[in-house]
Amino acid sequence: MTTIVCVAGARPNYMKIKPVMDALEARGAHVVLVHTGQHYDEAMNGVFFRDLGLRPPDRFLGVGSGSHAEQTGRVMTAFEPLLAEIAPDAVVVVGDVNSTLACALVTAKAGPLLAHVEAGLRSRDWSMPEEVNRVATDRVSDYLLAPSPDAVANLRAEGYRPDQVHLVGNVMIDTLLANLDRARGSDVLTRYGLTPGEYGLVTLHRPANVDDPHVLGGLLKALGEIAARLPLVLPVHPRAAGKLADLGVPGGVRLVPPAGYLDFIALQDRARIVLTDSGGVQEETTALGVPCVTLRDNTERPVTVEEGTNVLAGRDPERVVAVAEAVLHRPPAPRRPELWDGRAGERIADLLLAGGTARTRRRPTDAPAG
Ligand code: UD1
Ligand code: UDP
Repeated sequence: MTTIVCVAGARPNYMKIKPVMDALEARGAHVVLVHTGQHYDEAMNGVFFRDLGLRPPDRFLGVGSGSHAEQTGRVMTAFEPLLAEIAPDAVVVVGDVNSTLACALVTAKAGPLLAHVEAGLRSRDWSMPEEVNRVATDRVSDYLLAPSPDAVANLRAEGYRPDQVHLVGNVMIDTLLANLDRARGSDVLTRYGLTPGEYGLVTLHRPANVDDPHVLGGLLKALGEIAARLPLVLPVHPRAAGKLADLGVPGGVRLVPPAGYLDFIALQDRARIVLTDSGGVQEETTALGVPCVTLRDNTERPVTVEEGTNVLAGRDPERVVAVAEAVLHRPPAPRRPELWDGRAGERIADLLLAGGTARTRRRPTDAPAG
């Protein structure tokens, strides 16, 4: 039997790994779910297991918070002996968090084949820790599983071989589509006194936006101006909680705890506009056809701008307000990118189970040209 280790550790990982695990198990693979413990609060972690119907982790590394080096190092130190003990045929990592890179580096030296789900995304912004994690994870992966044609183009331009790169679609949208009816049954709007189509939803957690009080203050000023015409609700990421409390938020902006998955999908689905610096939220709003204003200067997900509902606003307060007003006045037409169809997990499982294992498939030794 093929044994595959699936890694998750932080909020955006759970919805990405679930459809891959389900499809692998449906095809008879033995899946071992390893949770690194990068996120651990009930609101950042536990609620997703319940909402998504994800089984409890088979192994828990319990690394917790720390600097990049501390966190990455703790995951590597804990994952290495585990991998030796389990001796899987392959390891699947998702996304771009520190847990992703840490487990990728250990796997690359240990022997099992490594599959990266969400390969090829590039912001080209090296100040983002996620950009370092993405590029380095791709470099040591055997299977580069790309969500969109732009990601394939990036990988080809970097010199990866065609047989490593696979356009599989977007696993996050698998989970969104599988749970949309349940999310629409959430009572979160009633609990927060929100009227469908008459509020905006905000998330902020990128270090570039929330760590510097000057930048965060400017964004809050912009949100205050938008809130003068449309009430805003902001589920607070723990990274931003202290700074938001110190700065105080303008009237019309309501802070609420981080939302569970079903509640958050319901909040996106019924929002008139979403303002965010999240990666996954840019994708989910595109799939839902809800206008999204991204509070960043760049995006590693350009397909959501070119073939979705996303508009890049940057972080200058005046520009953010102008872009939000333009979007409220003339919302982008809903469109959905190719292969964001709810079947990415199945395509990934088919590839992984057809491709042989570390024991039967020679690991490529030729380096990328780029
Ligand atoms: C991490 C990811 C980021 C992802 C985000 C999703 C990296 C480098 N960053 O950022 O790509 O978009 O998760 O949400 O991997 N904290 C809690 N409770 C928790 C988890 C964290 O209070 O359950 C607080 C701690 O103070 C911690 C801080 O949040 O120091 C940051 O957590 P960390 O996992 O280091 O980075 P995120 O900002 O969450
Ligand atoms: N999300 C959630 N509750 C929230 C904010 C986000 O359930 O309060 C979900 C969101 O629907 C998406 C994922 O978390 O599925 C995105 O994670 P996050 O924004 O933390 O990370 P990123 O995608 O930026 O790495």
